[in-house]
Amino acid sequence: MSSHDIESGDRTPSWWSSLASPGRLLTSRTALRRKNIVGFVTICFFTFLFWTAPPQWLDLKQYSIPFISPSLHDRRILKTLARYDLAPDDPYPHQLPRASKIMPDVKTTDLPYPASHQRFPSEQLRELYPAGPPDLDSEFHENVVNPRTPIHPFIKNWMSPEWFHSDGRNQKKLPKVQWDLSANPISSKRTKLNDERKEAVKRAFVYSWQKYKDNAWGMYDVSTNIRHDEVKPVTAVPSNPFQGWGATIIDSLETLLIMDLQPEYELCREHLNKIDFRLINGADWARGWRADLEDQTDGEGEEFDLKKRGHLDEYVYQDEHSERPWRESHQLMATFETGIRYLGGLIGAYDLSGDPIVLERAKELGKILGRGFDTPSGLVMGRFDAGSKSDYFHNGRVSLAEVGSMNLELTRLSQVTGDRWYFDQAQRAIDYIENIVIPASDLAPLVPSMFDSNIGSRVNGYYSFGAMADSYYEYLIKQHQLIGGATNQFASMYAQAIDKAQELMFANLTYYPGRHLMTISGFNHPGRGLTYELEHLTCFAGGMLGLGSRLLDRPQDLVSGDAFTKTCYHLGASTASGLQPEKVYFFDTHMSDSVLYENITAIIEDEEDEYITVTKLKGTPQGTVNVDGRYLGRPETAESVFYMYRLTGDPKWQDRGWRMFTAWIGKCTAKAGVSSVGDVRQKEPRHTDNMESFVFAETFKYYYLLHASPDLISLDDYVFTTEAHPILLRNRDPGADNLWKPSASAINAELGKRGSGTDAQLYTRLQRIAEVDKQRRIAPPGSKGFMGGGLGRSRGGIERPSQSDESQEQEA
Ligand SMILES: *[C@@H]1O[C@H](CO)[C@@H](O)[C@H](O)[C@H]1NC(C)=O
Ligand SMILES: *[C@@H]1O[C@H](CO)[C@@H](O)[C@H](O)[C@H]1NC(C)=O
Repeated sequence: MSSHDIESGDRTPSWWSSLASPGRLLTSRTALRRKNIVGFVTICFFTFLFWTAPPQWLDLKQYSIPFISPSLHDRRILKTLARYDLAPDDPYPHQLPRASKIMPDVKTTDLPYPASHQRFPSEQLRELYPAGPPDLDSEFHENVVNPRTPIHPFIKNWMSPEWFHSDGRNQKKLPKVQWDLSANPISSKRTKLNDERKEAVKRAFVYSWQKYKDNAWGMYDVSTNIRHDEVKPVTAVPSNPFQGWGATIIDSLETLLIMDLQPEYELCREHLNKIDFRLINGADWARGWRADLEDQTDGEGEEFDLKKRGHLDEYVYQDEHSERPWRESHQLMATFETGIRYLGGLIGAYDLSGDPIVLERAKELGKILGRGFDTPSGLVMGRFDAGSKSDYFHNGRVSLAEVGSMNLELTRLSQVTGDRWYFDQAQRAIDYIENIVIPASDLAPLVPSMFDSNIGSRVNGYYSFGAMADSYYEYLIKQHQLIGGATNQFASMYAQAIDKAQELMFANLTYYPGRHLMTISGFNHPGRGLTYELEHLTCFAGGMLGLGSRLLDRPQDLVSGDAFTKTCYHLGASTASGLQPEKVYFFDTHMSDSVLYENITAIIEDEEDEYITVTKLKGTPQGTVNVDGRYLGRPETAESVFYMYRLTGDPKWQDRGWRMFTAWIGKCTAKAGVSSVGDVRQKEPRHTDNMESFVFAETFKYYYLLHASPDLISLDDYVFTTEAHPILLRNRDPGADNLWKPSASAINAELGKRGSGTDAQLYTRLQRIAEVDKQRRIAPPGSKGFMGGGLGRSRGGIERPSQSDESQEQEA
């Protein structure tokens, strides 16, 4: 069906008549005179051409020269119609700004030291862990958890599989993923363009990075701004959504190395060495809010022994007898976000740098997170109290993405340490999903986004590749690649899931004429089935399908991946801002034309009193019924565009990515970074003041790599975690690509005591203690009010906190 039917409109007026008609005379005489002069000169010029030109030049129709075209009116109609056209598959040239226009003044070398950084005075350390227990024995009982659900027999009898060897001895050679660069080299012209664009991406990254350093790395005001996970790009204040460990710093480590910003990487090392994983926004889950001085001093009087704090096991696993009954209760660790941002960031940084400090921290954090797998089902807790003494936690309803996506990180940790404990935690969970959860699912082998981990009967509900489910499917194919196909388990789980999804969740959007656009939708079962939605989060699936198509020789998946990525791209290209909405609902393809299309009256451009009728697909963007117009700096479409380029070598993907990138920087740049926005359907959307750490970890990284040489972090050498942290394949040695060559000062740097707490963490701790003291004064021991404000008594990990968790909305 044609989307434009011209119904009315006077076709005769031309440039001449419109100029001559009285109502349209220019009001200024000077302007009229100038136009006459221009017209006169133009006529002379063409008269001259007429006389001198060879005959074939005289067929002027073949040139589109506006001021002699007889049908200016037609051109205006076309221009009007173009406003209702669908966005093109490929950007118009004017949508590809020159790289030199993007943040030309940002310098990428010799960046200033974090401006506001303050050192925590070491004499205050004692105050963090002051002497003497409060006499509140009756108030604090340790969590004695009696789980209502017995451990599942499958978990009780589970055995670690024989195919896994941390040295990778039975890995197979897998098919090549990237296109063959040596057979199809990139032209030198394209290389030059790529280099310019790559540098522009780097400048935009450095701009945001330096803003983070200036406004969030340290602190301005001890009483208010002791936060350093992220910086708010509009108000320039720091925030702590991820436990206060400096999420942006850890998430950015490999981006810094990939962009050749080694001094910045070295700047981060002290921070990452000092993070105290036991402090969560100032609360201490391991040692209590008041520590017993004798416990802490090793008999050396009041001197606080920081070294002891480096031995995590001592506290987490072997403290049955020493743990104080008044431990600060119940600080919940957000497993999934901690896993993908922090643990993934550390492991990726280790694989790029070979830096042993990073590995030490990764091992420590891996041990902490590993405790979260002690559940009746072996599925990791969404949130848990890592300091709890219970033997195991109870985790009820879980999200598929949260329980099914730590296997890459933990498997790699086992590969590099030789300790298979990490791998086992993740593998047991996957085996449970395969053997217990999937058989219970109504739409097996798909698994609902949320389900009860203690499988009683059937599981069903809402199925999707988007939020709450996404990275489970992604990690099936990526785990296959990481273990070099040492077992067929992951390939087979993946292939069967994709086949089923194709049958149920893939939908061609047939009302876009002449285009192969499709969505990977949610699916309700039981219920109304396909929801025809498209979440930005789901857009990673284009890359996943492409990767799987190469690794498992499934050519149709590349066709779907290409069409799906194009659809995600199309959505962004279709909005006034050029940015992709967070989520849209498309029309159901079975609707009749009268529902899908509408006739609208359009005033012809530059001709106020004339109009035409245009028949167009309904919705803004066209084809959508319902839109969540936010854009949060998400990377998923950029990620799939990057995969499509690396798989096919087709430079049109680079141009698409460049349009996306320049729209993003153009519309979202704020005074302290690149902001989220409220509604992408507005030409200048309002900034909503958020810059998630994944902007640094993923969005900038994918745009940079899209324009870098395909040899840099090749998809045949690395597999990306769901947070875009690159992990080395085929058990190669970390640092194999020499992206970090330690400077002389880095080798001798004084990094402080490992795990002793960053300055911001220690300040936050001090502030927290002051708050608790104040509360204690207000509410005497024994009263219910005591320890309020987030420090309430433990619920022993028995239930998951309410759905209002910030992490529910975070990237999955
Ligand atoms: C969608 O369209 C593609 C290309 O035309 C085709 O290969 C595929 O089978 C279609 N899928 C469905 C579910 O109709
Ligand atoms: C739009 O106008 C055309 C031509 O008059 C007509 O055939 C069609 O039914 C109209 N469509 C709608 C949705 O009103």
